[in-house]
Amino acid sequence: MIAFTINGRAVSLDLEADVPLLWAIRDEIGLTGTKFGCGIGMCGACTVLVGGRATRSCITPVGDVAGAEVTTIEGLDPKGNHPVQQAWRHLRVPQCGYCQSGQIMQAAAFLKDMPNPTDDDIDAVMTGNLCRCMTYNRIRAAVREAAAALRGEKSNG
Ligand code: FES
Ligand code: FES
Repeated sequence: MIAFTINGRAVSLDLEADVPLLWAIRDEIGLTGTKFGCGIGMCGACTVLVGGRATRSCITPVGDVAGAEVTTIEGLDPKGNHPVQQAWRHLRVPQCGYCQSGQIMQAAAFLKDMPNPTDDDIDAVMTGNLCRCMTYNRIRAAVREAAAALRGEKSNG
């Protein structure tokens, strides 16, 4: 059994330790907001937080998160109102939406470490999160808006 916490809830799963965390999240726990894209750590669609750090769940063995705290898009904010989510809605970032939970989780983790990023900082961190719909300009603007909100500044978006 592999025990960890997900979105504040303790879970204990009867899985082999090398099963990808993404499968545990989607198929065992039933949280489908986290997406499968490439399966090899190259697209970011599967990004969740492990101990607050952005983590590619498709290449993370579930055994590696034993005892850890995992947060998925469903747990980022109880009402979906994390400042990053608010900025995403305000600027209508998603197109098809498939990549967006990963984008939001990556951005939320990044802004905890870097509250006042430049556009270059944003691009450097978000570059590993691919979007087939090319929403990159709106993602950059939304990260800036969320950063301002998290700093307690009024949005100019
Ligand atoms: S599905 Fe995990 S990085 Fe692409
Ligand atoms: S919104 Fe379609 S892949 Fe990003």
